[in-house]
This record gives sequence, structure tokens and C-alpha cells, in this order.
Amino acid sequence: MESPELRIVETADGSKTIWNEAVGEHYHSKHGAFQESEHVFLKSGLQFWQERTGATAVNILEVGFGTGLNFLLTAEYCTSANLNLNYCGIEAYPLNHDLICQTGYDKYVNEELWKNFLNKYPLVLNEEQDCNTHCKLKIAHTRLDNFSADILFDVLYFDAFAAVHQPEMWSDQALESCCRFLKPGGVFVTYAITGNLKRSMKALGFVIEKAKGAPGKREMLRAIKL
Ligand SMILES: C[S@@+](CC[C@H](N)C(=O)[O-])C[C@H]1O[C@@H](n2cnc3c(N)ncnc32)[C@H](O)[C@@H]1O
Repeated sequence: MESPELRIVETADGSKTIWNEAVGEHYHSKHGAFQESEHVFLKSGLQFWQERTGATAVNILEVGFGTGLNFLLTAEYCTSANLNLNYCGIEAYPLNHDLICQTGYDKYVNEELWKNFLNKYPLVLNEEQDCNTHCKLKIAHTRLDNFSADILFDVLYFDAFAAVHQPEMWSDQALESCCRFLKPGGVFVTYAITGNLKRSMKALGFVIEKAKGAPGKREMLRAIKL
């Protein structure tokens, strides 16, 4: 059953997202959930990092796991590229199995990956699980400010609700609480770019870069940890 506050809606590229009535915001860009996820996180984040390092294994941390779309597209890519993926998604309010089923994201990934993702949901919470031979997933059921990890990450997907709706997620303190788990040379990506965000990331010891935005947005931020 859909929660009255959470409604599945279609975006401009035909892919679905969720509208959160309480927050007043979609989980993805209304210009295209699939396109945003692919452009901002997979291409501008993981693939950018992979081209720089040539590595064959990657640890990814996501802030705001939500529907798991960023994980699914990343896991599909890693499987086909023979890249071992260890993915941790931080989520304070995990979605239920029924809502995940209604996203239609099965069409973007192979059957085995989708089934393993879904079957383990929500039992996968807080426990690292294999989704296939290349991909491990852990959903950390916690607020960002309480998150901790015993490993460091190579790439950080920062996918919080926009600052206008949830400013506390973009504070210096919130950014520091996830960026401290990024390795030197690690890549931080997010769909947004603002003066405040650029200043915060520089103060946290990152080199910042304006990258081309997803459809509907001119620019996005990519930052590399020194
Ligand atoms: C823009 S949506 C993320 C979309 C998601 N990446 C996806 O592909 O579906 C923001 C997410 O952050 C989560 N969230 C909100 N406050 C949080 C907090 N304090 N700590 C961790 N997650 C939070 C929301 O529940 C929501 O799932």
C-alpha cells in the first residue's frame, strides 16, 4: 500500500519517482529520474573516479538511499564492467517493499539483481548482503548525523532533498559527517551546486568543480578530496 504521504509519479523521461507530500519534494528530478541518476551519480561520479584510478573494486557511500535507483544503476554497470562494488546507502526512512515494487525499476537492471534486491528488502537493513557475485549492499537505517562506518569510501553520492526543503542536510556539520568517510582522492557528487555548498566543500578540504548538470539543470557539483 502507498502511504498517503508518498505517491508514485512519472517523470519526463518516462521513469518513475516518488512525491513526498510532507517534504513537498520529489525523490528525483521531474525532468527524468533515470537520466538524473545515470548522469549525476553513475557517469559523473563512479565512471569519472574509475577513469582516474583504473581500479577494479569500489566502495560507494550514498546519503539518502530512498528507492535504491542510484544503487541499481550502479550495480548493473559494475556487473557488466567487472567492477566489484561495495555499496552502503544511508537512509533514515526506508521505503517498504510494495512501494519499491511500484517504481518499475526492474526494467533498468537484470532479473537476478532486481530479485535479489527486492527479496532482501527490508531484511537487508543494517546488514551487508550480496546482490550478485559483484555487488554487496548495506542499507544503514539511520539519520546521517548518527552514521558511522568502519571502512572508507571511494565515491560519495550525496542525494539529500534540496536545501530549500531540508537545509540541515546541507549544513557544514552534515557534510562533514559523511565526507569524513571518504578516502583522499575520493569523489563527491551531487545534483546541486550553490555558493554555500562550494564554500563548505572547500573548507572541508575538497577541490571543487562545476560539472555539466543532468537534463533540466545547467550545472552540478563534483568535488575531490585532497
Ligand atoms: C532525494 S531523496 C533520495 C532519492 C534516492 N537516492 C533515490 O534514488 O530514490 C532523499 C532521501 O533522504 C532521506 N533522508 C531524509 N532525511 C534524512 C536523514 N536525516 N538522514 C538520512 N536520510 C535522510 C529521505 O528519506 C529520502 O529517501
